[in-house]
Amino acid sequence: MQNILVTGGAGFIGSNFVRYLLKTEPEVKIINLDLLTYAGSLDNLKDLPMPDRHIFVEGDICDQTQVERLLRQYHIDTIVHFAAETHVDRSILGPGQFIQTNVVGTYTLLEAARNFWGEENQTQPASVEDVRFHHVSTDEVYGSLEPGDPAFSETTLYEPNSPYSASKAASDHLVRAYGKTYSLPFSITNCSNNYGPYQFPEKLIPLMILNALDGKPLPVYGDGLQIRDWLYVEDHCHAIWTVLRSETQGETYNIGAGNQPTNLKIIETVCEILDELKPESPYKPHRNLLKFVQDRPGHDRRYAMDISKINRDLGWQPRQTLASGLLSTVEWYLENPGWIESIRKQVDYQGWLEKNYEKRE
Ligand code: NAD
Ligand code: TYD
Repeated sequence: MQNILVTGGAGFIGSNFVRYLLKTEPEVKIINLDLLTYAGSLDNLKDLPMPDRHIFVEGDICDQTQVERLLRQYHIDTIVHFAAETHVDRSILGPGQFIQTNVVGTYTLLEAARNFWGEENQTQPASVEDVRFHHVSTDEVYGSLEPGDPAFSETTLYEPNSPYSASKAASDHLVRAYGKTYSLPFSITNCSNNYGPYQFPEKLIPLMILNALDGKPLPVYGDGLQIRDWLYVEDHCHAIWTVLRSETQGETYNIGAGNQPTNLKIIETVCEILDELKPESPYKPHRNLLKFVQDRPGHDRRYAMDISKINRDLGWQPRQTLASGLLSTVEWYLENPGWIESIRKQVDYQGWLEKNYEKRE
């Protein structure tokens, strides 16, 4: 694994992965293909370690000509595919872009990889054993757990409930089908909700941090008793790299962290951390900002991941506890007001959110 094409590497997890890889594997070369949609930003890629090992290319995964050109130009042997539309609320309001990026985009990348890695006269990579298409997916493809249900395992049936999770499920199936039909070497990881630095502030944790700092309402959907399995983003990056480094072609791994608080508990914990770190805040106690709003349509009640396969086969386990991960996440947002300002200038995310919350109240 030397020349890696990362898609979506200017987004939240992708940029953390690029940073992680440059820090831990300085001999790899990363080509980072990202369309810089509202969710992607070059501010996520500032001050990279080993910047000469990283090349950023602005472009669309749906553009097969461009993707094939990059594969050929940089002798790509590994694709790590993060690029996607990722916000469930946006998928409910407008599913079309999710089908285009997540389904058509993944199909286009697969076609490009199949063409390039199947070419006869190429000199590098040397053989099909040396290449890998790694697809980054989500626990949401499995649907929602009821009380008493066991956690999702790699053999749980797919039952996606939102346009987002359905589009990810479709892309997972395409990757698997290319593996079976065309012998394209692949691996898939399905992971739970990530949190940490550089997360776009429309997702729960960064939204709560930024709204609380501004004294704005903290919208709790429904009764707030929904449950997610929170995974610190660096642990996720480490898990993906562990899968890539191992003989795991054709395998799927679930990744989670065994942290399953209710949304209410997460929001209250963020408020308590802010009370502690910002004792002078006029909005203290921040939990007074909580506001129960109308629930999300089709809202999945609970996710939980059984990670025994990746733990048993590859020895991976999360390093960060929820308490330490949340504290360092809140600290990161407090220490990076420049990043917040620039993200706010690039996108009218607050306007978008307010418009949608109005509908829920
Ligand atoms: P994100 O929304 O922060 O970033 C997505 C990135 O993809 C952005 O940089 C965007 O510009 C880029 N992109 C979108 N369309 C593109 C296109 N057509 N061509 C090239 N680039 C394009 O997403 P994230 O939270 O970092 O998620 C990354 C991956 O991980 C996604 O595939 C997502 O489904 C998966 N995932 C995320 C989570 C989570 O909690 N965030 C959990 C499970 C799985
Ligand atoms: P989110 O971060 O959007 O991730 P996902 O929907 O992919 O799990 O939401 C996490 C949980 O938090 C989910 O149950 C919806 C809930 N939520 C709120 O209660 N309020 C909010 O403002 C947001 C964005 C999410």
